[in-house]
Amino acid sequence: MSKEGGKTVKLEQRKDLLGLRDVSREEIEMILSTATPMKDILKRDIKKVPTLRGKAMVTVFYENSTRTRTSFEIAGKYLSADTVNLAVSTSSVAKGESLRDTVKTIEAMGFDLMVIRHGMSGTPSYVARNTNMRIINAGDGANEHPTQALLDLYSIKEAKGSLEDLKVVIVGDILHSRVARSNIYGLSKFGCEIRVVGPATLMPPEIEKLGVKAYNNLDQALRGADVINVLRIQRERQVAGLFPSLDEYSNLYMLSPERLKNAREDVLVLHPGPMNRGVEISSALADSTTAVVNEQVTNGVAVRMALLFLMMGGSKDEITY
Ligand code: CP
Repeated sequence: MSKEGGKTVKLEQRKDLLGLRDVSREEIEMILSTATPMKDILKRDIKKVPTLRGKAMVTVFYENSTRTRTSFEIAGKYLSADTVNLAVSTSSVAKGESLRDTVKTIEAMGFDLMVIRHGMSGTPSYVARNTNMRIINAGDGANEHPTQALLDLYSIKEAKGSLEDLKVVIVGDILHSRVARSNIYGLSKFGCEIRVVGPATLMPPEIEKLGVKAYNNLDQALRGADVINVLRIQRERQVAGLFPSLDEYSNLYMLSPERLKNAREDVLVLHPGPMNRGVEISSALADSTTAVVNEQVTNGVAVRMALLFLMMGGSKDEITY
């Protein structure tokens, strides 16, 4: 439960999940605690439960994805929702159909919920205003990627026992990173000390207004770190002049076991994937037990099951095992 405009709001009464900026700590806690019984379902031989039978969801990705699209799809299927993916590149979008007409067409088929990824910031919000379907933002431009941050928070809490007052360092291309923004919004609700570090050209000038401390020196930023979230270098979003060469970047910012000397001994390393091994993270670190990249993927299914359940189903007490 959270207070929105003086009114008590439960997540199942929230129509859309567009970002974590406006989601309360209580709502985040409810999603994370609902993800735990969902993760128990994932450990079973037979993972399908009837909870969302009769509900229908569609994934619409205007940008490439492996983890987010597939995990939403399998999360819906495990909960028995009818789950469809619109293959955007072979859809009538290629014939010039507008976004609004595409959404209205899908809505007319009776879907309850749409998961959408788009290269332009604000698109999920625009879609949400133009449809009765529930909308989940699966990443919009450099704005937000709320379900990535939720699975990151879940993974941190699972490893550390609590999200309270941790020192969390986010490394890389902060300028273009929707993962960084959603992590900052989420972690700051739990009193974490958040540091962002990367090249000055990839550091938004106003970033400290979000309550974080900005660094350009990786070794300084890592002092006493409990958690390090390593961002993917988004080569597809780079503008000439902003990005150093890959060699220069990896010399200054690539995380490796040797670069962790300033962090806490029990530091946890996250990466949202897909990884550029040898650029932002060394293979030795990616494949070590310090990094929890594959656990993040599993937790992504559990967290997305929790969200689908809370938005299309009911309260945690009503999960049908
Ligand atoms: N982390 C993430 O969003 O990965 P995908 O682009 O593969 O969905």
